[in-house]
Amino acid sequence: MTAVRLILVLWAGLATSACGVRELKIGIEPTYSDINRIVLQSKCIHCHTSLATYSGLLQIVTPGSARESELYEVIAEGEMPIQTAPLSGKEVAAIREWINNGALNN
Ligand code: HEC
Repeated sequence: MTAVRLILVLWAGLATSACGVRELKIGIEPTYSDINRIVLQSKCIHCHTSLATYSGLLQIVTPGSARESELYEVIAEGEMPIQTAPLSGKEVAAIREWINNGALNN
């Protein structure tokens, strides 16, 4: 029994750290590359190729103001993405932070 429990604990630990890799780190300033890699590439660009580049993304972003950005509006209101799971609260918050921090190409 002990061995089985140990294996379960190890497995759970591995699963948790594997998930952690794909999570956006909020609070330590999400970057464009985080957002691009974790959100845009997997949930947007197969329908919107224009969102695959930084300059394309800026067409729907007002740097410094998430409130005035179409990107933030559509995700915060749950209008986008369609035909796939909605973004998590963390993902929405990370995009808000990134825009409010100036939407840098970092
Ligand atoms: C399955 C395809 C699909 C996915 C995935 C998708 N979109 Fe869209 N998106 C559309 C379509 C179709 C429209 C046009 C909808 C309309 O005009 O009613 C649209 C419209 C938009 C618009 C314009 C909104 C407007 O009101 O005209 C923005 C901005 C947008 N999408 C951003 C995103 C973002 C950001 C993501 C990823 C989080 C995303 N979309 C994921 C298909 C998709």
